[in-house]
Amino acid sequence: MIENVKKTVFIRTFGCQMNVRDGEVLEGLLCAEGYGITRDAGEADAVLLVTCSVRQHAEDKVWSEIGRLKNGRACRCRDGRRGRPVIGVVGCMAQNYKEDIFRRAPQVDIVCGPSEIDNIALYLEEALRRKGSVVAVAERRRNEAMYHTGFREDKDHAYVVISEGCDNFCSYCIVPFVRGRLRHRPAAEILKEVRAAAALGITAITLLGQNVNSYKQATKSSGRQVAGSSRRRVGGKGDFVDLLGRVSAVEGLKSVSFITCHPKDTSPELFKLMRERACIKKYLHMPFQAGSDRILKVMDRGYTAKKYLALVDRYRKLVYNAKLSTDVIVGFPGETEADFAATRRLMERVRFDTAYIFKYSPRPHTKAAALGDDVPMAVKKRRHAQLLELQKTISRQKKDETAKRKDETAKRSSC
Ligand code: SAH
Ligand code: SF4
Ligand code: F3S
Repeated sequence: MIENVKKTVFIRTFGCQMNVRDGEVLEGLLCAEGYGITRDAGEADAVLLVTCSVRQHAEDKVWSEIGRLKNGRACRCRDGRRGRPVIGVVGCMAQNYKEDIFRRAPQVDIVCGPSEIDNIALYLEEALRRKGSVVAVAERRRNEAMYHTGFREDKDHAYVVISEGCDNFCSYCIVPFVRGRLRHRPAAEILKEVRAAAALGITAITLLGQNVNSYKQATKSSGRQVAGSSRRRVGGKGDFVDLLGRVSAVEGLKSVSFITCHPKDTSPELFKLMRERACIKKYLHMPFQAGSDRILKVMDRGYTAKKYLALVDRYRKLVYNAKLSTDVIVGFPGETEADFAATRRLMERVRFDTAYIFKYSPRPHTKAAALGDDVPMAVKKRRHAQLLELQKTISRQKKDETAKRKDETAKRSSC
């Protein structure tokens, strides 16, 4: 910590739940170093933007926020100095653009990729001393200690990261390029974090990973994965189902959920555990992305629509009153009306409880970027609106059905 005056930091988070947790960790790390956290950007000595690159629109929001900070009123620093705050671009956009961020936005002082956030106090101190700009974009395993800073925004619910990065390389997706290759946290560390949260009185946990089902126990000494049955850890398979079993057995927890499930790695063993353990939420977020096998193949998703549907049927058969949500992309390169109709049919057949529908956005580094972006925006918009409308109808019908069931149960029990 520099000087004797307590410096304040404003943190704004964009993007997914991983970023929400990273934002909390940043707060915890900075508080531990003596910084104050402010909810008012105008009075902060430093502003950190925890950013997302998943679609162009997500990045545009951050660029305009950076612009506002440059043009906005000068901050009222606590030591009486007036001047603009230190600006840090943290997370996925930092990794995507690296030092190019300074070219587009010279007012930025810190560029800090997702793997480097454990050193944020160091970078902030350097920038506050105005030693010039700081770029930290190495791809490495984060220091485990950062997950144990103890800071939790929500006093009832905790996000717990089980793995960083992703090795799936779906052809449209930038995540493996900005979050890096898949790294699993040791199960012992995850359990330590969960128990610490439970000790604080937190009763709901959400385990986070880009694809939670790809989780494999890492050995503490090597950090390498235990793969295959011949190298199985004593007392469990070391896979996600094993981990979920151990987490959901932690005393005090009333609700355990997890995101996201990739269909190619999701197994009936998971559904059986969901059925057995009362505290595991009967909710699955399993993106299908597209209903056309041709498009799924070009997306490199590793399953067909038929396989996806079989998985859904198995899930609903094994888990009573199971909820299901999904992600869908419209306007992927080469998506014809027939491909889109297949996506529509899949949604009609499955009747998801919730669906997050996205317009395809070409991303740098990805395989699909080379395919062009040939579906006109007007067509993307129409398909997007059609699926939104369809989902709205399904959600309304499902809500009515639930209310009717509740009504009938109440009537029966009053007879
Ligand atoms: N790890 C998660 C998803 C991470 S990104 C998973 O595999 O399910 C969240 C969602 O954003 C994806 O499921 C996908 O539907 C959407 N998405 C990712 N890249 C996109 C792109 N280039 N254009 C539009 N949507 C995209
Ligand atoms: Fe992206 Fe696919 Fe990994 Fe999800 S599984 S983060 S969509 S590459
Ligand atoms: Fe966005 Fe990075 Fe999450 S790109 S969706 S913040 S992993």
